[in-house]
Amino acid sequence: MIKRSIGILSLSLLAMVSRADEKIDEAYQAFLQSQGEASWINAAANHPLANTANRPIPPIESFSSDPAKQALGFELFHDARLSRSGTVSCSSCHTGMMGGADGSRVSVGVGGLLGTRNSPTVFNSAFNFRQFWDGRAFDLDSQALGPITNPVEMGHDLEVVLQNLATIPHYAEQFASIYPDGLTAANLGNAIAQHSRDMTRSDSRFNEHLSTGAVTLSEQELRGWERFNDVGCASCHNGINLGGNSYQKMGNVGPLSNTAMIASLDEGLFARTGREQDRQVFKVPSLNNVALTAPYFHDGSVSSLEEAVRQMGQVSGGRKLSNADVEDIVSFLGSLSSEAFAGMSSRMGNMGGMRQQMRQRMQQMHHGEQQGQQMNHGQHHDASTDQTRQMRRH
Ligand code: HEC
Ligand code: HEC
Repeated sequence: MIKRSIGILSLSLLAMVSRADEKIDEAYQAFLQSQGEASWINAAANHPLANTANRPIPPIESFSSDPAKQALGFELFHDARLSRSGTVSCSSCHTGMMGGADGSRVSVGVGGLLGTRNSPTVFNSAFNFRQFWDGRAFDLDSQALGPITNPVEMGHDLEVVLQNLATIPHYAEQFASIYPDGLTAANLGNAIAQHSRDMTRSDSRFNEHLSTGAVTLSEQELRGWERFNDVGCASCHNGINLGGNSYQKMGNVGPLSNTAMIASLDEGLFARTGREQDRQVFKVPSLNNVALTAPYFHDGSVSSLEEAVRQMGQVSGGRKLSNADVEDIVSFLGSLSSEAFAGMSSRMGNMGGMRQQMRQRMQQMHHGEQQGQQMNHGQHHDASTDQTRQMRRH
């Protein structure tokens, strides 16, 4: 046991070293601190314990946060008026029922345009050392402005969004009373990011097992956890999010067999850095809630968790996992699901049909809402996030 932990520790140190040389933005940290926020949430990799093999998810109560900012962020997250067409909100692609993702291979944005990447979960994204598959956003505040101007997501002009928000009395008042400098791009990002941080969930069975010991994992889950560590998954998928704290090359050990991924040629980090060694390098995704966020990988090319685990064993573990190993590891990964979401998904039964209906329902609501009436969007747009919010609060 001790030997294994030492092994994992040295592997995770390796993972830390192979991170691209990016410096923490000190001015930005100072800004966050001036807003009264715990900086380790925004730069989890700076936290001394963030990279230990298995690290409990801190309870949401331990984050200092301003309830007024959170409430404002919640409204903005669900407001389709941030998109050019008035039909797409953040919650269109990040919904609670889908574990904080959207269930599509790649996301559908304004006018039905398709992106090139799979929507990652927003839940527990506060613990990622960078945001996006290629880590191009340093933190959640700057991340939040990205989708608004992304042509295939919300496709809007940030200046126009700010002007529009200023004409909505509720928003104008809220920004003026919460932020000394009122409605600015930085404050819009900050408010939305407050909600992203608020989407921290620590109610998975694995987390309960780790943090309080109140839950005992099944024999199969425990076996899966052991195999996960023994075959080296934990060398990259470690820390609070079992990932989210390093960049790694997809196919670092074995060759890619995934023909869809080879064909789509996403260059990953290379597109940002231009460094040859960054080709096909991605941020290691978090595995919290992974059982709920099919399809998998940056391009959504794999539809089942079994197959994703099998491919990972090959390309990153350099071995063909036995069927028993795959089943055990998948069973362990299932213990990483927030209990609230897992309950919701199973009650929904037929996910495919339900997804379709939900998308249509959301689109209809976004349409009905473009007249700039008084805001109270949460309940309408995303009953799921709302419901878990209620569950957590009570
Ligand atoms: C059209 C669908 C779509 C919309 C709308 C959308 N997102 Fe995303 N989101 C994605 C996709 C796809 C990615 C991954 C993109 C990439 O890595 O290049 C992503 C990535 C993220 C991440 C990073 C998670 C991680 O693990 O790296 C966060 C946080 C996030 N979105 C929050 C938001 C917020 C806040 C909004 C609203 C301002 C929003 N998203 C709107 C599809 C969407
Ligand atoms: C060398 C580092 C590394 C190792 C070792 C590794 N992974 Fe990964 N894992 C990654 C990266 C990077 C990605 C994202 C790849 C992509 O999308 O192109 C990923 C993605 C995944 C995904 C998909 C998550 C999602 O939301 O799409 C799963 C599941 C996964 N890994 C499980 C495992 C398992 C199980 C093992 C052990 C058999 C393992 N990984 C070993 C780096 C690693």
